[in-house]
Amino acid sequence: MKILAFETTCDETSAAVLGGGRLLANEVFSQVPLHRKYSGVVPELASRAHLEKIPFVLSGALRGSRSSVPLKRGSFDAVAFSRGPGLPGALMVGRVAAEAAAELAGCPLIGVNHLEGHLLACEFKGGRACARLRFPLLALLVSGGHTELWHARGYGDYRVLGRTRDDAAGEAFDKVAKLLGLPYPGGPSVEKEAARARGKGPEFPRPLLQGTADFSFSGLKTAVSYYLAGRLGEDFYKRGLRLPPADRARVCKAFQSAVVETLVRKTAEAARSLGLKRIAVGGGVSANGALREAFGRLEGFEVRFSEKAYCSDNAAMVALCAQRRLESGGFRNSLRVAPDLAEPGWR
Ligand code: KG4
Ligand code: ZN
Repeated sequence: MKILAFETTCDETSAAVLGGGRLLANEVFSQVPLHRKYSGVVPELASRAHLEKIPFVLSGALRGSRSSVPLKRGSFDAVAFSRGPGLPGALMVGRVAAEAAAELAGCPLIGVNHLEGHLLACEFKGGRACARLRFPLLALLVSGGHTELWHARGYGDYRVLGRTRDDAAGEAFDKVAKLLGLPYPGGPSVEKEAARARGKGPEFPRPLLQGTADFSFSGLKTAVSYYLAGRLGEDFYKRGLRLPPADRARVCKAFQSAVVETLVRKTAEAARSLGLKRIAVGGGVSANGALREAFGRLEGFEVRFSEKAYCSDNAAMVALCAQRRLESGGFRNSLRVAPDLAEPGWR
């Protein structure tokens, strides 16, 4: 089976080819430098950049996988794309590219859920989709736009248990980094700073929201902002005031610990309440070393992460979702699916 896939939900433009379960190409163009000066993704700029770069990632993926250029009938068994959730304009670019490619290749078009992609990314090992997930499991999906807990009963069979009521975990990292004067994307910047922290730092609250599997990270971001206002003055951000580096590192560590502890405790609690022994963690934030270590210390669960190369957005994971769906005969023509239709599952 040979699948061509596109990913354009946010700020990575990507095309990949998966053939015989092996990743033959996975071209990713990151728009991070474009959005850095705004400390976050600017949707209109993202759509335009996707439009500009998609022909290049496509031709790179076709050449890299030794597929025919231009696209010929019969060269692929399916063309897949991320149908959401994501930025509407950005999604549209991937969708139109995928529709055109499927038309040229004369094959089915499959729209997949982006967060399912982050989950199945855990199956890649050294470029092969060989480390199959074992179901049922509890999935924690943590990215820049989403923080969700799913009860995953099989491929395409997911029930959303909880999601964030405000900021996603990655978004909180990005916003806190901005408050501290650290570069976008905030996750890697905060993690790097936290690793330098020595001595005791401030304590931030753990937003555990007892009795629900939902999350809320905006209060934690506000707590960091209050702490900085207390140290530097109310209008610290406007005046461009920054903490000394040693203090900043301690704030990063304290914030990261609060996010990590909240994610791990809520995930474990949800898994226990369903009697699940397996956990899989995906999405950009799952690259975080402190999060990986904390899950590693969790007793009584088998915890899976994707390789770091597949944590952030990529089309390889999109291709794999399409492949698993074709293998289990769960394919419906997704052309009728609205691109912003974000609910997971296809059974
Ligand atoms: O999954 P992803 O690449 O894109 C979305 O679907 O949103 O996730 C991007 C998010 C950003 O918010 C980024 O700051 C965060 O993942 N992130 C991290 C780390 N690397 C990326 N957060 C914490 N620690 C990291 N090492
Ligand atoms: Zn993502």
